[in-house]
Amino acid sequence: MMRDITTGHIMADWKPEYAAGWGREQLMMRHNLHRSELFTNEALAKLLEAVERQDYHVNTRSSGADGPKRRREGEFGGLSGMELIDAVQKGDIWINLRAPQKANSAYGDLLEDIFREFEMRVPGLKTYRHIMTILISSPNVYVPYHADVPGQMLWQIRGKKRVWVYPAEPPYLPQPAIEKLILGELHETDMPYSEALDNGANVYDLEPGYMLYWPLNLPHRVENMDCLNVSITTEHYTNDIRTSYAVHYANGMLRKAGFSNLKHQEGGPVALAKTGLAAAVKFSGLHRKAEKPYMIDFKVDPSAPSSVSDITPYEVRK
Ligand SMILES: [Fe+2]
Repeated sequence: MMRDITTGHIMADWKPEYAAGWGREQLMMRHNLHRSELFTNEALAKLLEAVERQDYHVNTRSSGADGPKRRREGEFGGLSGMELIDAVQKGDIWINLRAPQKANSAYGDLLEDIFREFEMRVPGLKTYRHIMTILISSPNVYVPYHADVPGQMLWQIRGKKRVWVYPAEPPYLPQPAIEKLILGELHETDMPYSEALDNGANVYDLEPGYMLYWPLNLPHRVENMDCLNVSITTEHYTNDIRTSYAVHYANGMLRKAGFSNLKHQEGGPVALAKTGLAAAVKFSGLHRKAEKPYMIDFKVDPSAPSSVSDITPYEVRK
């Protein structure tokens, strides 16, 4: 049943040039989501208490004594939602809610409203496979240099963060890297980065009520300012994005075939590419790589340094 919504309430000062540059230009646009009742501390606390274990990640790079700054996985450890927010506020952690609509369908409704509004505003736009992730992160937390496979937007709700966006071409993004990314053989946070690349970046300071939409696959990295951050990422596909995916997929398969099967007949790589293309077009390759089991080795604890309290490690399977 159709809900009775007023389309056009999400973007705050839409301009015709946004439609003209859609998908081709970096767009920093204004929105109203930071005023939504879905993102108050009370609402987020309720959400944090409702999410299932498989639908959240809490991470840190903090480690006791002089341990390495590796990324660690944690658990909420029985804290209330408000205690969790307090722990993020004074800690060195980030919480990632990957399916908020499973705990509260209002988030799913909002996600559909967002893309319905874009489709209304951008002639010919048709999007699908929408995903919303809510990020609640500590002051100064950073997201390393990486690129994403789907169409990506970053919406700022609370706090302030700086975003570097780089061109999707060598040396920022070597062609094999994007192919590996799409083949699921490159970790998204595992692209070569050096400070020299920053000379080619556009830098944005995102404040509440601003969002960024950059063209497909553009590498980026993010640093929180010295404050609690609440942000949303949305993902989407279009036919153009799907086609780009299929071409990279096929090229990646060809490249692999070329490296590993040089003596095979010419038909081999072509056939492989066709297989890859077909698989991509059918989206069979589009689902995220099956997540490996991972180790939980800390619990969130607002009384511990960085809000990180070591626990006996255990494995979580998806
Ligand atoms: Fe990203």
